Amino acid sequence: MGNRDKSEIIKHEIFDKVKEFLEEKSKSQEFIPGKTNLQYAGAVYDHNEINAMLESILDGWFGLSKKALEFEKALAQYLGVGEVILTNSGSSANLLSISALTSKRLGKSHLQKGDEIIIAATGFPSTLNPIIQNGLVPVFVDCEPVTYNLDADKIEAAISEKTRGIMIAHTLGFPADMEKIMDIANRHDLFVVEDACDALGSSINGKPVGTFGTAGTFSFYVAHQMTTGEGGAIVTNDKNLARIIRSFRDWGRACVCQPCKVFMNPNFNCPARFNHHSKILNAANSISSGSMIDEYDRRYTYIEIGYNLKPLEFQAAMGIEQLKRLPDLITSRQSNFNKLYKYFEKWKDYFILPKRGNEKYDICWFGFPLTLRDNAPFKRIDLIEFLKDNMIETRLLFAGNFLKQPAYADIECRIFGDIVNSNTAMDKTFFFGTYKGITDEMMDYIFNTVDKFMRNICEIK
Ligand SMILES: Cc1ncc(COP(=O)(O)O)c(C=O)c1O
Repeated sequence: MGNRDKSEIIKHEIFDKVKEFLEEKSKSQEFIPGKTNLQYAGAVYDHNEINAMLESILDGWFGLSKKALEFEKALAQYLGVGEVILTNSGSSANLLSISALTSKRLGKSHLQKGDEIIIAATGFPSTLNPIIQNGLVPVFVDCEPVTYNLDADKIEAAISEKTRGIMIAHTLGFPADMEKIMDIANRHDLFVVEDACDALGSSINGKPVGTFGTAGTFSFYVAHQMTTGEGGAIVTNDKNLARIIRSFRDWGRACVCQPCKVFMNPNFNCPARFNHHSKILNAANSISSGSMIDEYDRRYTYIEIGYNLKPLEFQAAMGIEQLKRLPDLITSRQSNFNKLYKYFEKWKDYFILPKRGNEKYDICWFGFPLTLRDNAPFKRIDLIEFLKDNMIETRLLFAGNFLKQPAYADIECRIFGDIVNSNTAMDKTFFFGTYKGITDEMMDYIFNTVDKFMRNICEIK
């Protein structure tokens, strides 16, 4: 038996052991109401994910390579987009999308310092931060009352001469009104970046969110619809933009062929590496023929002021397996959302319930949001603390109103109109988890605990 055969046998023994280990582990993970922490979200995986990662690690090539390419292709096919660029987080995906739009190589008018980007006043910080980090000016517009998405009806009036883009998040999975937003964007020649980090699996008339705008972003952090531990992706149909994003992701370098033949085969002698950059790179790089950089190694030629925001190859291996599981994960989220909705209908005098999906909006819920009505005879903090004391996790709606957060106290910004719903979201909204890990038994425990709070603590009959 050759060494290779022997190592293959050992590898498969490891895989079998992993399967056995996970099966044993799951047997010891009994849910004890009130004792087991009931997470609002978590990774759902089995030996397929772990063994795919192990195989990639045992392969000994850790940087992005074949698995990354395979994952990008599979995701592109799932979403029906031309280009997918993997990143190490959803936040990085947002940062790269906005940064890339500042590139002179865009070929059309790029974002410049002082340009305005319209954004909802409520949301997750790293939807907003790239705007500020790139020297752009956020224009805060209030969110809608029930979806907490940027109020599309207010966008047009908020546009000024300096406005160049819209940053839109699909909050907790509920799609923003992309038809209206794209119509406004097209008429005013605005970039649209869709933060779909919470919304993988949601669609409008069958078209996935994240694929309407100039670019869309996704997060694969453990709390999200599918996971690679940490991780993210940017999607776009603009090939040139995709190249710029890859450059920003990979230190700003000129060398961004996809697929990179050297990644596929480290022994490949790339003919483009020492070629004349002045002939093959976009003129905006101002590399003149015969200059010192002209024949410099393209891997070490920098055409953007970039970052390193790449994920690892084994994360892509996990992503491939998670994507296969995604339809099932989506169904579970929808089913758990429906159970929560059905239960909370009886308390609708005290809570504003979320909007539901319909024929047009297919929704993969990140969470089940509730907003306390003004007449609720209890405080949000009392309810979520009661739930926490009973080992049930909930979450607030991320940053709430950004303008109330210390980090943004002194930023340059414009505030359009009254910010009312974002304050309500900060003050009165919270959400339950919907992920597959919440079983019927756990769901019943949640309902019994809320019943207890409402009837025994608040004495609501
Ligand atoms: C709307 C939104 N955008 C971006 C992110 C950031 O994603 P990540 O944690 O992968 O950086 C999150 C995280 O939950 C989010 O909810």
